[in-house]
Amino acid sequence: MAMYLIMLGPPGSGKGTQAKELGKALGLRQISSGDLFREHLKNQTELGRLAKGFLDQGALVPDDVTIKMVTGRLSMPDVAKGAILDGFPRTPAQAEALAKWLEGRGERIRAVLNLRVSDAALIRRISGRRTCRASGHIYHVDFHPPARDEVCDVDGSELYQRDDDRPETVARRIEVYQAQTAPLIEYYRRQDLLFEVDGEQPAEAVTKALQETLERMVGL
Ligand code: AP5
Repeated sequence: MAMYLIMLGPPGSGKGTQAKELGKALGLRQISSGDLFREHLKNQTELGRLAKGFLDQGALVPDDVTIKMVTGRLSMPDVAKGAILDGFPRTPAQAEALAKWLEGRGERIRAVLNLRVSDAALIRRISGRRTCRASGHIYHVDFHPPARDEVCDVDGSELYQRDDDRPETVARRIEVYQAQTAPLIEYYRRQDLLFEVDGEQPAEAVTKALQETLERMVGL
């Protein structure tokens, strides 16, 4: 059976940072719906053009488009043994569609890891975030600075600030999270799949807490 894990949490809570670390430790790929949209935007595909308006406003891309894109990605051979999902599902309809898609393959979600972080910390994290242009490596000007200003330590590419990290868009993204995504916490709790971790600790401590949780609860 393949291993499907979900990272849940508000914008800036560290889903991407932690999904990358856990992915390395567990030998699983991180599949980030946000990164997939940004890739389409960069390549100026039709989907990228459609998604742009939603991303710019901090709104969610419609469910049907998002579900098709993510399940399409999950059908690729490099994720046959599972994946760490980051940013998907984000609505009850997406969660239902994912469960159905997995069920059709004799698979299921093994655990949902929810990162709890206060709004004040989210805003501080997002405003200082820098992302690598080539591969999406994540930095922070104070909490995880690169060795050379604006240059990725891993691949030497340029670091940039995401367009949707402007303060007015961030406020909207947090509102959208509360209205449309936070209900998934209860949804997965009812299914006994939810594990919560204090995401406000330093990143290494969060990784350790997540690994301990997975070991204790899922035997990973
Ligand atoms: P997406 O890219 O998924 O953004 P998000 O959920 O808003 O999450 P972020 O990427 O902002 O944050 P993160 O939790 O990954 O934190 P990170 O690790 O970077 O989505 C963008 C847009 O795409 C959406 O608004 C929507 O339009 C669309 N979209 C995506 N998925 C969709 C879906 N399923 N349905 C519909 N639309 C969808 O960390 C943040 C910063 O904090 C970094 O600088 C990092 O270095 C730092 N940091 C991390 N952990 C710590 C720590 N413990 N201590 C200190 N600093 C830390």
